[in-house]
Amino acid sequence: MMTDARLTGYLNRAAAHELGAVQQYLAQARLLHYWGIQDLAQQFEADAQEELTHFSLLADALVSLGSAPQAGLLPAARLGRTLQEMLVLNCELEVSAIRLYEEAAGYCARWRDARHQELFAHLARDEAEHLQMLEQMLRQPRAA
Ligand SMILES: [Fe+2]
Ligand SMILES: [Fe+2]
Repeated sequence: MMTDARLTGYLNRAAAHELGAVQQYLAQARLLHYWGIQDLAQQFEADAQEELTHFSLLADALVSLGSAPQAGLLPAARLGRTLQEMLVLNCELEVSAIRLYEEAAGYCARWRDARHQELFAHLARDEAEHLQMLEQMLRQPRAA
């Protein structure tokens, strides 16, 4: 099994992305709560839980490689001033995740590392579904 710095680099960037997403979605859930949009607040909390599950998969991969996760400094959560803005910011976050995971999966494929290729492809698929759901919500705007 290869344990190169680029692979652990991808895993740590992915880990940082997931923790950043947890921070953003939980913070937005609180803001939605104060706006009185309780059903979406609950959904964003559930989304944050899913991102945490993704982080756990990455932490497992890093620990399996004998490496400790090192997410580093997370970017500030982007909250948005309206629900519409919030959803646009979240679409951007998911698009950047998909880009990162597809690049990482491609790197693993070139090195015939099927296990990590599948991990990144799995994450990319999950985030693509997440993006689809956010885009769906954007197309059905509600008062906020
Ligand atoms: Fe995720
Ligand atoms: Fe996501």
